[in-house]
Amino acid sequence: MAPIGKNKARAGEERFAVPRHVAIIMDGNSRWAKKRGLPRTAGHSAGAEAFRKITKYCRDLGMEYLTVYAFSTENWKRSADEVSAIMGLLEKYLYEAIEDMEKEHTRLFLMGDLSRLSPGLQELSKRALKTAETVKGLQVNVCFNYGGRDEILRAAERYEKDYAAGRAGEIEEAGFSQYLYSAGIPDPDLIIRPSGEIRTSNFLLWQSAYSEYYFTDTLWPDFDEKELDKALIAYNKRSRRFGGV
Ligand code: IPE
Ligand code: IPE
Ligand code: MG
Repeated sequence: MAPIGKNKARAGEERFAVPRHVAIIMDGNSRWAKKRGLPRTAGHSAGAEAFRKITKYCRDLGMEYLTVYAFSTENWKRSADEVSAIMGLLEKYLYEAIEDMEKEHTRLFLMGDLSRLSPGLQELSKRALKTAETVKGLQVNVCFNYGGRDEILRAAERYEKDYAAGRAGEIEEAGFSQYLYSAGIPDPDLIIRPSGEIRTSNFLLWQSAYSEYYFTDTLWPDFDEKELDKALIAYNKRSRRFGGV
């Protein structure tokens, strides 16, 4: 699709609305590698490249928020080698983000429990978040050591403390959602899962209440601009009712 101004794009003759917020479960890296006789880690590197490409495309389309699932609270179950390769990719990405955010017009935000990361990665994350404060453009939320249930539990814990101290009122949806990692970010309009799996795997449990889902068999490293076009075209045909008529 070609961008044509504020939140609109064109595919052939047709004009499409670009949703404000798209979220993607970046899945299928290991199967992509296996198909090529490569180690799983090569799949993660290829997945990181797909992520860079899609980020630029979303920015060019004028999207406001892109949220990606990069590492779940359950992904620690993988081998130490695989986990360490993924940490290496995060490190590389953070260095790059610190350097490029301004000129790329994309601001990085991290969602997840970063306390389990190495001290070096935690420090780098802080630097990246600090740099992002002054950057305008597409906000890219990278979910790392993220779990939807974990996020809700943490929020409940923090809310309970504030309530006990008189800093929070009676519990209600809008107020409670400000305790989630996603505080201040609108719910995703569209959630895409490549790789043929039809499940959420603990992604954005609270925020996805009224999101549209799009599933495709394409493996994440093969997911390109054309694949995103297809997802956005499908999204534009949905009728979102939010419980109304
Ligand atoms: C997604 O790719 C990346 C992470 C979960 C970190 P996978 O490694 O899960 O790839 P598949 O789903 O096994 O093919
Ligand atoms: C979900 O993929 C997590 C990420 C893509 C980061 P998984 O590969 O971990 O999910 P399952 O195990 O297929 O549900
Ligand atoms: Mg997977």
